Amino acid sequence: MKKGKKLYEGKAKIIFASTDKNLVIQHFKDDATAFNNQKKANIEGKGILNNRISEHILSALKDANIENHLIKRLNMREQLIDLVEIIPIEFIVRNIVTGSLTKRLNIEDGTKLNRPLIEFCYKNDGLGDPLVAKEHIYAFEWASEKEIDYITEQCMRINDFLLGMFKGIGIKLVDFKIEFGKRKSDGKIILADEISPDTCRLWDAETDKKLDKDRFRKDLGEIIEGYQEVARRLGILHEQTNNIRPIKFPKPIEVKIKKK
Ligand code: TMP
Ligand code: ASP
Repeated sequence: MKKGKKLYEGKAKIIFASTDKNLVIQHFKDDATAFNNQKKANIEGKGILNNRISEHILSALKDANIENHLIKRLNMREQLIDLVEIIPIEFIVRNIVTGSLTKRLNIEDGTKLNRPLIEFCYKNDGLGDPLVAKEHIYAFEWASEKEIDYITEQCMRINDFLLGMFKGIGIKLVDFKIEFGKRKSDGKIILADEISPDTCRLWDAETDKKLDKDRFRKDLGEIIEGYQEVARRLGILHEQTNNIRPIKFPKPIEVKIKKK
């Protein structure tokens, strides 16, 4: 698959055209941002890990009949995906209260929710991705009521699947953000973007150690080690136990944060 021109560059990914008008190439960068772009860094190896982790999760979701944009991984940093028109809403699913919700409503960090909570944020960097109600989504025609009902149902299915998948490897799925888009080839609404430690909060089940982008947001250090641990437990990276198998990477990944 030949890479065409750059169509879009986001904070952590670039989208390139492909030779098929209905497919594009998604490239994972090492760039990281937090707090609405105020904090920036380049974390060497992050893009490679997110490409692999997102590929793993989206393939597993596809096997569970949850349609998404992934066609196949092309190389260390790129995957071939369906071209979609992204719905300008970030769908946030929460199982445990933390992050912005603790601050917004003064709820104790770590409070378990009796049922998953879905929040809607309008994707607009200039406004800091504000929380919106479903009524705003309908009023401004970002999506229809029928589409939101379908997406909400998909969010719950994805949450159920991911909760089980992560539980099996000793990780608590605290919360995550997903995006949906309308597939160009047939207009169907499907899961798009990525699912990775950049977009999920993942805590070790025994110690509550953070294995996700909060290590960067909160200056906890060992960012790549957290992402690597998730990949290792998912069976993507192989342990170096007893020196039987070397880590399957072209070169060792070191933590190197370049302040921008
Ligand atoms: P929050 O607690 O900061 O609102 O984040 C909720 C979840 O959404 C958390 O898993 C991180 C993820 N997230 C993103 O992927 N992108 C974003 O821009 C934000 C604000 C959160
Ligand atoms: N969207 C946020 C930013 O760009 C990133 C995050 O907190 O995950 O600053």
